[in-house]
Amino acid sequence: MDKYNISTKDQYDSIYKDSINDPEGFWSEIALRNFSWKSKWKNVLEWDFNHAKVEWFKGAKLNITENCLDRHLESNSDKTAIIFEPNNPNESSEKITYRSLFERVCQMSNVLKDKGVKKGDRVCIYLPMIPELAITVLACARIGAIHSVVFAGFSASALSTRINDCESKIVITSDGSYRGNKTIDLKGIVDDALLDAEIVDTVLVVNRINSKINLIEGRDVLLRPLLENAEKFCKAEVMDAEDPLFILYTSGSTGKPKGMVHSCGGYMVYTSYTFKNIFQYKKNNIYWCTADIGWITGHSYILYGPLANCATTVMFEGVPSYPDFGRFWDIVEKHKVNQFYTAPTAIRALAKQGTSYIAGKDISSLKVLGTVGEPINEEAWHWYDKNIGKGKCPIVDTWWQTETGGVLISSIPGIIEAKPTFATLPFIGVQPVLMDNNSNEISESDVVGRLCIKFPWPSIARTIWGDHKRYVDTYFSTFDNMYFTGDGAYKDSHGNFRITGRVDDVIIVSGHNLGTAPIEDVINEHNNVAESAIVGFPHEIKGNALYGFVTLKNSSNISENIKNEINKLISDKIGPIAKLDKIQFTEALPKTRSGKIMRRILRKIAANDFKNLGDISTLLNPEAVQAIIENHIK
Ligand code: WT7
Repeated sequence: MDKYNISTKDQYDSIYKDSINDPEGFWSEIALRNFSWKSKWKNVLEWDFNHAKVEWFKGAKLNITENCLDRHLESNSDKTAIIFEPNNPNESSEKITYRSLFERVCQMSNVLKDKGVKKGDRVCIYLPMIPELAITVLACARIGAIHSVVFAGFSASALSTRINDCESKIVITSDGSYRGNKTIDLKGIVDDALLDAEIVDTVLVVNRINSKINLIEGRDVLLRPLLENAEKFCKAEVMDAEDPLFILYTSGSTGKPKGMVHSCGGYMVYTSYTFKNIFQYKKNNIYWCTADIGWITGHSYILYGPLANCATTVMFEGVPSYPDFGRFWDIVEKHKVNQFYTAPTAIRALAKQGTSYIAGKDISSLKVLGTVGEPINEEAWHWYDKNIGKGKCPIVDTWWQTETGGVLISSIPGIIEAKPTFATLPFIGVQPVLMDNNSNEISESDVVGRLCIKFPWPSIARTIWGDHKRYVDTYFSTFDNMYFTGDGAYKDSHGNFRITGRVDDVIIVSGHNLGTAPIEDVINEHNNVAESAIVGFPHEIKGNALYGFVTLKNSSNISENIKNEINKLISDKIGPIAKLDKIQFTEALPKTRSGKIMRRILRKIAANDFKNLGDISTLLNPEAVQAIIENHIK
């Protein structure tokens, strides 16, 4: 990768320029030099944003697992690929070498094939952060099956929605999961989910928590015995660069979750190149991303990006607070982690505990710190820099999305200087622009606008599973010939971008993307709820938390009970992450004359900002605003 390894600012500038002047030349060079292809593409790029069509390297043949595993075996078979760090610090960690990972992936591939899984079939994976999760993901990729990982914190109903949407006939799960000092009955959740997902005929169950597993005859099978008896080699399926690699669901502002589809070739090229450069990963470094593989961060930057680079990647099963708030730093010390990548919400939660949990721990191995998932506030940034980086580790604030597959805007350690709360500059090949309210590109700096990208990069999602029209409508119809991110941003006079947050009805809570409409739909299912509106409000740890304004059908029996019932419903239908922090019952919601709920006003009230409500006289019911202010929850 030499010529294209970014190691100075001048080099960044010149590579960036090349990548914009000749994107096809640039990316084909990167793709040719760094990966093994079974045959080459015909055209590097075909695209038309107005129809949401993007194809990179079409016609080229490859298998991403040969790039992540097989090709490292010759010189690095004994190198550790994955360090598995269990929830309980008294249980030993496990180092999985490239050879062993290869063999285990092949065994899993053979098990899946034996169960009838073929190229193009969808496979739903609902597992905690244990090695089998990584292995199953890679096994799907090896046999050309499309993995759909569902975060194991989602509820039965969220799981069945996702299974049904992509018509997955098989689910891989475990008896349960550990989370700090709790266990979660994952198999029970799957059993519930499958009552509404009759399409599933096979469930493979990994034993993790040694609970008594209730196997349903003819459907459920214990996985480990099958793996033990499976052959340790499985030929990799030949995939087209444009064949789908996986589906990963993300919440939309309305309706059901969107199954973002990523393809094999471009995704591999982009996640690998960004991983290497943004984390400045060097041979023999130990890299740790604390995300769950159930999110895109885990797909791209725990598995595919690191493994394509023959890196050593840490996979942590537990939570930052167990057995105490020093757990992250224990792990950094234990495995001598060099690059550490986490979310602002985790940083804030740890900062709140003070520095005593860091004291006495040797975290001097750290070289680079990263953050992702939401804007990082200045205070958290400085805490991270001072107490974890000791002022010596550059922080990369990486902005991207499930839809983008890889990081699009970020500083580069030692090369592009960080600026607190700024994601800073576009990565190589990325062309971000800000758009004003009249759909014009803003050319001057020191302005805010809506963030769009005007040229495709290799790992952009190709479609929404089963609904290309929705893909076009959501991302490519707001502005002509542009990908619209849904975020607002500010650009300073040096071209640095600062993400200001979502400009649609998506709220980022603890780094999780939550659409307001799907939550409102669930609340409205409560038999005493007439109507509801959800907004985000600033929260010390979570970044944003949810505030629900609810009108009841029968307001004579308002009680704490209803609040609990509402949160229980949300927890059951979506997952605990979507629960409301505050619920205010109100006689009416402020509405425009056309009947639209004025969320802008509710947002201000939830943030205790009553001064700038704007002109409310044009509302249908201005008196509702006063009543809400009077009873609002501080
Ligand atoms: C949304 C995407 C990409 C992995 C995790 C989230 C917000 C993400 C940053 C950042 C400010 C950020 C955006 C984006 N976001 N990273 N560094 N600074 N905001 O993936 O669930 O698809 O959410 O997360 O609002 O649109 P996601």
